[in-house]
Amino acid sequence: MPITVYLPEKLWDALMTEEHMPVVITITAVIDETPTIKTFVFDKLFDFLPGQFCMVWVPGVDEIPMAFSAANTITVMKAGDATAALFNHKAGDKIGIRGPYGNGFLPSGKVLAIAGGVGVTPLFPLATAGEVDTFILGTRTADELVFPEELAKVTDLKIATDDGTRGYHGFVTGIFDQLDVTEYDTVCVCGPEMMMRSIFDRLAAKGIENRGQFSLHRYMKCGVGVCGSCCIDHEGLRVCRDGPVFTGDSLKDNEFAHHHRGPSGRRE
Ligand code: FES
Repeated sequence: MPITVYLPEKLWDALMTEEHMPVVITITAVIDETPTIKTFVFDKLFDFLPGQFCMVWVPGVDEIPMAFSAANTITVMKAGDATAALFNHKAGDKIGIRGPYGNGFLPSGKVLAIAGGVGVTPLFPLATAGEVDTFILGTRTADELVFPEELAKVTDLKIATDDGTRGYHGFVTGIFDQLDVTEYDTVCVCGPEMMMRSIFDRLAAKGIENRGQFSLHRYMKCGVGVCGSCCIDHEGLRVCRDGPVFTGDSLKDNEFAHHHRGPSGRRE
């Protein structure tokens, strides 16, 4: 028996505009970056700011938020049903893209970027635009590094691996602690939230957390600020609309690195 799904009127109105309709694109290439990370290249260029994201519609499965790694690419880690389905796509297949959405990074002066794992994705276009002076890239092991050769050409790249298979043996914070971070006007960060919290705490200890710009990841349904699924307690900031990049001073007293909410709205 057919099932009718009713969307709240406000959500329906917000999504049913030309601006928010998915653009159907053709995948022109799929690049294996690591055993669990692929870059999907499209036949369309999007006008985006580094740090902005798009909603990727995987036909018949789900729609998921993904950061742009370039104007015509997304770089994706396999981490659930939708990304697993996306990983089965190949050149010639079609998917839908809505966006770009969100605010992106707004660096000024001397810039330090810090990425953990696939968190390199939104920071990569910032570096290729020539806006990053120093880049700390961390992963568990050398095989999981994404874009190290490309980054080394455009910035002062410092690599950390948990197991010491390449670069510094330890976490990105180990390299961070060796720098005089007060020399940097902007510190752009993306990665696991506990890693970002460690960077936040170090900046706060020096009283310069306002120089930090942190890219948050949350469960998203609409991507345009209407459904509330990506709200940050307690301020009600929406990651999709007010972020995904937040300055350190706006993350001081909220759920950052404490919890977030899953599809049902329950705290995780
Ligand atoms: S995803 Fe709906 S408000 Fe952010």
